Amino acid sequence: MDDKDAAVELEAVYTEMLQNNLEGLWRMTREVPEVKPYLWRWDVMSRLVNQAGSFLPMEELGERRAVFLFNPALKHLAGATQTLYAAIQMIQPGEVARAHRHTPSALRFIIEGEGAMMNVESEVVPVHVGDLVLTPNWLWHEHRNEGTEKVTWLDGLDTPFVFGLSAAVYEMHPDVYLPETKPRDITSAGNSQSLLRPVALEPDTAAPQHLVYRWTDVEPALDRLAATDTTSPYDGVAIEYAGPNNGHALRTMGCWMQMLRPAEHTAAHRHTHSSVYHVHRGSGHTVIDGQRFDWKQGDCFVIPSWAWHEHVNDADTPAYLFSMNDMPIMEAFDLQREEALNESGGHQEITSTFDPAKAAG
Ligand SMILES: [Fe+2]
Ligand SMILES: [Fe+2]
Repeated sequence: MDDKDAAVELEAVYTEMLQNNLEGLWRMTREVPEVKPYLWRWDVMSRLVNQAGSFLPMEELGERRAVFLFNPALKHLAGATQTLYAAIQMIQPGEVARAHRHTPSALRFIIEGEGAMMNVESEVVPVHVGDLVLTPNWLWHEHRNEGTEKVTWLDGLDTPFVFGLSAAVYEMHPDVYLPETKPRDITSAGNSQSLLRPVALEPDTAAPQHLVYRWTDVEPALDRLAATDTTSPYDGVAIEYAGPNNGHALRTMGCWMQMLRPAEHTAAHRHTHSSVYHVHRGSGHTVIDGQRFDWKQGDCFVIPSWAWHEHVNDADTPAYLFSMNDMPIMEAFDLQREEALNESGGHQEITSTFDPAKAAG
């Protein structure tokens, strides 16, 4: 057989492979989507959620007036990263979302507005700006706005991960709304010291499951931590919302609050876990793989897996960064790796500045 005949015959083999859903490993191109660093501006997110919400009553939205943040590489996965979903949700006075539960775990970080109530497993908890509420896998939950102003929060879920495992199960409550069988707000009356762990310390694996973490506990805890030497060169004054799952708030997601002191500039590092950040207060910038991302209050940004990053507070007041991450998943499968940047004094060279107008679309 000459070379030409061999090539024709091989092409026929390849064609027949594809017809039978088979492929040669040597022909495979790498098609894993590359999660990109990205930043969403608060003024844009807030305006579009409110504009869409003014046209659409809650009933037409399946009770989900939430606009999700999709990574440019992951539109069809509805993921900010390969494991983390994030959305901005707004609820009007008087609105109620019916009780349900699901295998994806969820968190809510309150951004603005007073009057929202979360009912988790029949305990009603009023929530305020800066509070974090968890709805771990399969706990019943509903929410309502009993106040007089709209309330906006950040939703975080592990749905890209759970959908990837085809393990998402969802159920509405048979009674539509949850009974209120426990005293209001009993959970958040716990000891805040046990709720909040400096990230520089080893986790306490015996920590109980908390559902609510109050900003009024977090802010003074950060101030106390700032006065100690258990701060992190990579993360500043950083606290993890502690939980029973090997020290993380949820089995699949960890939650952090970081305070960057005025002019603080952290050292660069990278790790296999990915994170979605939300700027609770302050302004500054984060350099991700050499690209500068300027942020201010309300903005959200993504640090992909294994991307170099360092944070800078550009203001003369503290900056507070809330973040969720998939560290528990990485640890569960022994995939957690972390590396410090040793060259250039531990800082990256800035090669470009992120412009949302150019990056969109
Ligand atoms: Fe839910
Ligand atoms: Fe980091």
